Amino acid sequence: MSSAGHASRGPGMLRVLPTVRCNMACSTCNLRAEMLDAKQRHESSPDSWRRVINEAAPFKPYIYFAGGEPLLYEGLPELIRSVKAAGLHCGLTTNGWLLSRWATALVHAGVDDIWVSIDGQAATHDRLRLAPGAFERALEGLRLLHSERRRAGRAQPRIHVNAVLNPSCSDAVEYVVHTRSQFHCDSISIQHLSFHSQEARARHAAEGFGGTVPGCYLANLQFDGANIARRVERLATLLPSLTFQPTTDSIMDYYSERWPGPGSSCNSLWRILEILPDLTVCACNSIELGRAGEQSLLRLWGSCRLEQMRAAVQAGRFLACCFRCCYMNFSFSRQMPQ
Ligand SMILES: C[S@@+](CC[C@H](N)C(=O)[O-])C[C@H]1O[C@@H](n2cnc3c(N)ncnc32)[C@H](O)[C@@H]1O
Ligand code: SF4
Ligand code: SF4
Repeated sequence: MSSAGHASRGPGMLRVLPTVRCNMACSTCNLRAEMLDAKQRHESSPDSWRRVINEAAPFKPYIYFAGGEPLLYEGLPELIRSVKAAGLHCGLTTNGWLLSRWATALVHAGVDDIWVSIDGQAATHDRLRLAPGAFERALEGLRLLHSERRRAGRAQPRIHVNAVLNPSCSDAVEYVVHTRSQFHCDSISIQHLSFHSQEARARHAAEGFGGTVPGCYLANLQFDGANIARRVERLATLLPSLTFQPTTDSIMDYYSERWPGPGSSCNSLWRILEILPDLTVCACNSIELGRAGEQSLLRLWGSCRLEQMRAAVQAGRFLACCFRCCYMNFSFSRQMPQ
């Protein structure tokens, strides 16, 4: 499709961050640095968000609430009701700590999807999230969500569990898949750990595009890619409906320091706009385009900056931050890009 075509159709998804506050401090999360940014800490009112949602409604985007921890934003049910009143679909990912408190309100507000993060068995989950009791609280929230949905006689929200495959935890995602009945979920997705080296961070800074490098910084990047590939194969056989993100056709290369190759593609630049708590509109990994309410979303979606990035990625000129970005479908090449 031509760039003009993309611009007039608008984004298919708005990734809305009502807050970047969080009540956990997960070892793998890269949001902690961003949370220090005062601009991102300024939170907009449900009324301001409603105006943004109504402006976006003609493109029919899916509204995905992320964070931070979205359930820390008290106005979330009101926001969900605005989304539904505008005729749109929406979902959120939560760490589950406050899920029991919000389950009834979320079901009745009409949210379409809820992903609950589960990193493995209780001890692993609580350790990775630096939050004793977190697993039990998430489990209790899932139980309540499921029973509230049944009580309301609804098919929504669809309940999903999202597990991150952390290579340093040998059987954690396996546990999630094997014991899935305890989560009362409709589906499980597994995310590959997003991580980067010091060198990737330096390359990103030199490119000067701004934004952040996805994933966490790891000093030791020595992973047994062959073993992870075997684990993924076994899991895929066990549960064919399991989804992996990003999809990679060479897992071993993903866990090494190789670059994406010519067959790689980005799922975000043509599909997703991100909006920070203070209504700053971003693309890619927090690359700022402007502000909602000051410039139209359609104009920002067709902005020169974003078009330049689309052209670069379409031509196979990936950015340093593309590597292990969860929006990238990887196809690896043995050659390093120029
Ligand atoms: C950034 S969190 C935001 C939502 C919420 N606070 C939560 O933890 O579910 C979204 C998802 O990213 C996952 N995640 C965190 N760090 C990651 C990393 N380095 N690589 C891949 N996924 C990661 C979390 O487990 C969670 O499922
Ligand atoms: S993964 Fe979620 S819960 Fe953990 S620190 Fe990041 S935002 Fe908070
Ligand atoms: S794959 Fe690259 S261009 Fe696409 S969102 Fe990720 S970092 Fe940005």
